[in-house]
Amino acid sequence: MSTVTKGISMLIMSLLILGLLVMIVLGFMLGFTHPLPWILIGVLAIIPVIHDRIVATRFVEWKDDYSVGIATIDDDHKKLLGLINQLQAAAHYKTDEEIVENVLNQLVEYTKYHFSREEEMMKKCDYPDFEDHKKQHDEMIQQVSHYINEYRVDKTRTIEDVAVYLKTWLVNHINGSDQKYTPFLKECSHIQ
Ligand code: FEO
Repeated sequence: MSTVTKGISMLIMSLLILGLLVMIVLGFMLGFTHPLPWILIGVLAIIPVIHDRIVATRFVEWKDDYSVGIATIDDDHKKLLGLINQLQAAAHYKTDEEIVENVLNQLVEYTKYHFSREEEMMKKCDYPDFEDHKKQHDEMIQQVSHYINEYRVDKTRTIEDVAVYLKTWLVNHINGSDQKYTPFLKECSHIQ
């Protein structure tokens, strides 16, 4: 979501709350026993709850279903998801740019480190889908670098775009390509 789109959403939300407040005041003119203002108060009260739920969907939680059955790789994935959440939080709560840069750099560096570790394991075990898997890693690094460069040139692009891309990509990749190597690598003596 760009800064402009975010601004428009905030404006719509503020107008909605203001409109509800006005309608509540007008509703009470119908009498304190009239149900309308009380219904509107109920609607007003659930807005923050809905907002919090929407915000929560932007964060990602580790699930046992994501496990590839190899502890070091699972630990890497947990760390990456944690860094993505940090980036999401930094973007959402409008943290200092220096902190955003710091999390971004950690994310890129740790992603590269993780990919190398995984590729090393696949190579050692002659994993047959190695080339295709490595290609996915390389394309992801290229895409992230592209997003980050765009963000550095034009700060109106929000870093949330990068966080959403990373979250979606990583979860899909773990549940697809990474879990595909599980039976193969678990049988491989080179990583025991
Ligand atoms: Fe865990 Fe293929 O990245």
